[in-house]
Amino acid sequence: MSKHENWHLPVQKLAAKRDKEPVPYFETFTLDENLKTLGRGKTYTIETFGCQANERDSENLAGLLEAMGYTKEENKTPDIVLFNTCGIRENAANSVFGMIGEYKHVLKSKPDAILAVCGCLAQEENFVNRLIDHYPYVRLAFGTHNIPELPELIAKTQEEGRVVEVYSRQGEVYENLPEHRQSRHKAMVNIMYGCDKFCTYCIVPYTRGKQRSRHADEILKEVRLLKKLGYREITLLGQNVNAYGKDLEGQPDFAALLAMVAQTGMERIRFMTSHPWDFSQAMIETIAKYPNILPVVHLPVQSGDNEVLRRMGRRYTREQYLDLARRLREAIPDVVITTDIIVGFPTEDEQAFENTLALVREIQYDSAFTFIYSPRPGTPAAKLEDHTPLDVKTKRLIELNDLWHESALAKNKAYEGKIVYVLADGPSKKNVNVWSGYDEHGKLVNFTGENLKVGDIIPVHITSAHTFFLSGEAVKEETE
Ligand code: 5AD
Ligand code: SF4
Repeated sequence: MSKHENWHLPVQKLAAKRDKEPVPYFETFTLDENLKTLGRGKTYTIETFGCQANERDSENLAGLLEAMGYTKEENKTPDIVLFNTCGIRENAANSVFGMIGEYKHVLKSKPDAILAVCGCLAQEENFVNRLIDHYPYVRLAFGTHNIPELPELIAKTQEEGRVVEVYSRQGEVYENLPEHRQSRHKAMVNIMYGCDKFCTYCIVPYTRGKQRSRHADEILKEVRLLKKLGYREITLLGQNVNAYGKDLEGQPDFAALLAMVAQTGMERIRFMTSHPWDFSQAMIETIAKYPNILPVVHLPVQSGDNEVLRRMGRRYTREQYLDLARRLREAIPDVVITTDIIVGFPTEDEQAFENTLALVREIQYDSAFTFIYSPRPGTPAAKLEDHTPLDVKTKRLIELNDLWHESALAKNKAYEGKIVYVLADGPSKKNVNVWSGYDEHGKLVNFTGENLKVGDIIPVHITSAHTFFLSGEAVKEETE
């Protein structure tokens, strides 16, 4: 299949460009009249992979499709399927191709259906080339910067048969895009987009563009509206929330923004992800001061070895990280600290890995996400020579997991016999009699009870602790 001259394919080198100019900021969104009916009588499905940034994008994609008249499909033969993809590790591409295959049957009963790929993988050159050459029945590919154009892109695909539209630019900020939120009691609120940290292993600065903060008044407007609609918890989202506002003149920093958000009276406020490098003392004090900011800090360390950290471009040392964790614990005694760790980074030798284990032992994390390093084409680390065989990396991963599981279980044990307050998400998929939700320390709680209601904050007596969750029973007398 030949590439069309009007297509825009991703160019990662361009995507890495950064200048000091402010990015375009669009405060309103309008949809052409003729596009408002294009999806009438038709249905859509969105398959989302990856992180919360993608989850939130999918809420906007759903909103855009609904603004065109599409409705959500429940029985697997939709007129349009969007695969909103993640590119953080190599195996992500294979799982997306597998999932695309699962939807091929749709085209038998609906030959005009559109299978479309978007998200971070669509920003990667290798992935898009493979898609164009080997998946001719995928008729639309668009990037993270093209989301607001989805309606026009669908119209164009219907006319031209196949469209690839991926911009490799620094990005914009779009306010007030249509949305269909997944939950009616907890919400994600973007405070910024993109990332300028360029950690050497990471593809995100290439796929999601320059760091672009939203104006604080827009964020506050959104939080107040959510509160009015009855939402009880929000998560402020950014690749690197601590750097909020640094790209804009006259905006508050993250500590000040967090305080303003807390003052809206939203019941529960979470935020992620924090980069240890610019985690200020003012932020620690703000979290400590406001009871509605949950004392939960996701603080990716990536490695406990200074040389590996330097090669990763993380801009902090293990000593600085340990000091930050100590100051957090001092100011917020019940703080929950979680992390991300990569094992098998190219320069990690046995001693470096031991240093990571020692740091994990010292911090005593409540939880961790651990990964084997995956080279991402176009990133600086992908050029480093890697001498460690995969079986050694796998052994390291298992050893690391065993270690953090110990501290996670020990931390959770401290909740046994206590009452925690769980924001109820609903019955679990496996057993309708067991409900799940998260408590005021961000802990997953599975519980039983009577007359439970989704979106209530329910006192739960913790009867047993496990590595990944707490179990308990709703306290009868005090149910709201
Ligand atoms: N290989 C393995 N893990 C990675 N992460 C990011 N890039 C890579 C990569 N190339 C991990 C980091 C990050 C988390 C979201 O994913 O730990 O914090
Ligand atoms: Fe990737 Fe580093 Fe940015 Fe996180 S801070 S998204 S790891 S480049």
